[in-house]
Amino acid sequence: MSDHPVVTPYGDQETGKKGQVTKMFDRIAPYYDLLNRVLSVGIDTLWRKKAISLLAVQKPGVILDIATGTADLAIEAARTLRPQKITGLDISPNMLRIGEEKIRKKGLGDIISLEVGDSENLRFETGSFDAVTAAFGVRNFENLLKGLTEMNRVLKPGGSVVVLEFSKPRVFPVKQLFNIYFKNILPVIGRLKSKDKNAYTYLYESVQAFPDYENFSDILVKAGFKNPEYKVLSFGICCIYLAKK
Ligand SMILES: C[S@@+](CC[C@H](N)C(=O)[O-])C[C@H]1O[C@@H](n2cnc3c(N)ncnc32)[C@H](O)[C@@H]1O
Repeated sequence: MSDHPVVTPYGDQETGKKGQVTKMFDRIAPYYDLLNRVLSVGIDTLWRKKAISLLAVQKPGVILDIATGTADLAIEAARTLRPQKITGLDISPNMLRIGEEKIRKKGLGDIISLEVGDSENLRFETGSFDAVTAAFGVRNFENLLKGLTEMNRVLKPGGSVVVLEFSKPRVFPVKQLFNIYFKNILPVIGRLKSKDKNAYTYLYESVQAFPDYENFSDILVKAGFKNPEYKVLSFGICCIYLAKK
């Protein structure tokens, strides 16, 4: 049972959230990177950089990037942390296809490997990774607690989790401007450019329904993590959550 309302891209009439999310990302994959850059005016790149920089002290050797999509976070981690190995996992084959191409072009194929998989049922053994990361992924899980508990399971004791996710700004006027932009402007651009009329409405609705700040930190604890902390980015539009196993 989820402790927050479950928002799905295409409503109730189709498959469960997991099937709908896979279908949505498979559809928008060719437009995903460009839309990220345009809709966030490039700030999403800085958010990922900041998230990965928090792992620099730990210098993780083996990293799992959950919901890796087109692999931007995995690529940033490979470049700045130079670990031995990064596994990027995602449920959408089309997102991974774009990621594979980027990794190949950047010559990072010896560090990063991508695979199709579901974060809620990981094939990896308990205690396999020094760090587990997820950027804009956990909000899309069908069962958030199950996905986070799996992320905890595959982490080594003492390992770190870093989650980057949208949050709801609380301060005037960012809160008001963010709502106008996210609710009214972004879905229109998204619809025109991604050819999926629901994807960017789902983005707004799923952020509204998703636990943030202390509420998300509490769920990390329920999933087995210790010492959760969060760092607010861009006046609360985004948050980085950090915790240990
Ligand atoms: C908004 S994209 C984020 C991609 C990438 N991490 C980034 O920073 O751009 C969310 C990704 O989560 C993936 N996803 C959603 N639910 C998943 C699950 N249960 N297991 C694995 N991946 C999942 C989607 O397929 C999609 O590629």
